Amino acid sequence: MSEPVQTPQAIANAAFKPRIFSGIQPSGGLTLGNYLGALKRFVQKQDEGIQTIYCLVDMHAITTWQDPAKLRHATREGAAAFIAAGIDPARSILFNQSQVSAHVELGWIFNCVARMGWMSRMTQFKDKAGKNSENVSLGLYAYPALMAADILAYHATMVPVGDDQKQHLELTRDIAIKFNNDYGVDFFPVVEPLIEGAATRVMSLRDGTKKMSKSDPSDQSRINLTDDADVIAAKFRKAKTDPEPLPETAFGLKDRPEARNLVNIYAALADQSVDQVIADYAGKQFGTFKPALADLAVSKLGPIAAEMNRLMQDPGEIDRILGAGADRAEAIARPIVDQVYDITGMIRSRR
Ligand code: AMP
Ligand code: TRP
Repeated sequence: MSEPVQTPQAIANAAFKPRIFSGIQPSGGLTLGNYLGALKRFVQKQDEGIQTIYCLVDMHAITTWQDPAKLRHATREGAAAFIAAGIDPARSILFNQSQVSAHVELGWIFNCVARMGWMSRMTQFKDKAGKNSENVSLGLYAYPALMAADILAYHATMVPVGDDQKQHLELTRDIAIKFNNDYGVDFFPVVEPLIEGAATRVMSLRDGTKKMSKSDPSDQSRINLTDDADVIAAKFRKAKTDPEPLPETAFGLKDRPEARNLVNIYAALADQSVDQVIADYAGKQFGTFKPALADLAVSKLGPIAAEMNRLMQDPGEIDRILGAGADRAEAIARPIVDQVYDITGMIRSRR
């Protein structure tokens, strides 16, 4: 747990109220990776009583082209997933990014703070652009500066994410530090990443070296939050493994990425340590382990899928929740971004 540790940065951030911000792109259906790496932790943080702000980042989603009707659907479905997983819109602030213009306003200012060299080193950009880097959107390149704006528009101090977002959070820290230095202020906190637990990076079921992703062309590679029990069981049954039984100790998983991934998923779903799972299944074949894993996943994900279905029957209610969340988000972000305009020398004479 990251709480009582007094790192130098935690002391420097003491002037800021503890506040959590995180986001998920509505660029398709959510996966087990999103659930274990993000949603499940979001709920834990809410239940610890810290102020939590969660956002469906639709402006980030359009950095790669989205069909408008599908984007709208995925945003509502994402909101339904948050609520079904345990986010209470009365206790957390839940909204979609485009309804609070402070994000893009601060994003632009951060485009002018971040350096080309920093952005060029972002591995997610390199992965997404691939060989096609001349032909991807400018937004995809600037994406991490907008992410920094999402977080810093709230003076958020902690950001729960999966391991793949670590580099973006380091960039967020660099942007905050450079802004503070350039303008001679102590305005932005230096955020702490919260990347904890057994499954901070859930891997593809087809390739234990690739992250499980909603954008993978193979549906067999991932568990979707909307998959039914039969589909979940079939996907785990067909998941790639090696022929060896499960090892006697966690160390034995070291060079077995697929086996390690399945054990990590089990541990995270069961709220157990990897050692405990290995102790229970040492020497067992995957023929035994996979059905147990499938049953566990169905018992955890089934109720979430059912609740998502119920919520999706009433899209108007979801839109109302997002609107109310946006009002509350705006009340925090607007004064912070207005101060940024003052700090940077923008005349705001209509206020
Ligand atoms: P994205 O789907 O890229 O918008 O990611 C939303 C959140 O889910 C971020 O906090 C990611 O780190 C997390 N996430 C996405 N895929 C995975 C995965 N395979 N394992 C763990 N966390 C993930
Ligand atoms: N970049 C994140 C992802 O792809 C999504 C995201 C956007 C985010 N803004 C954020 C996560 C702010 C945490 C905080 O997973």
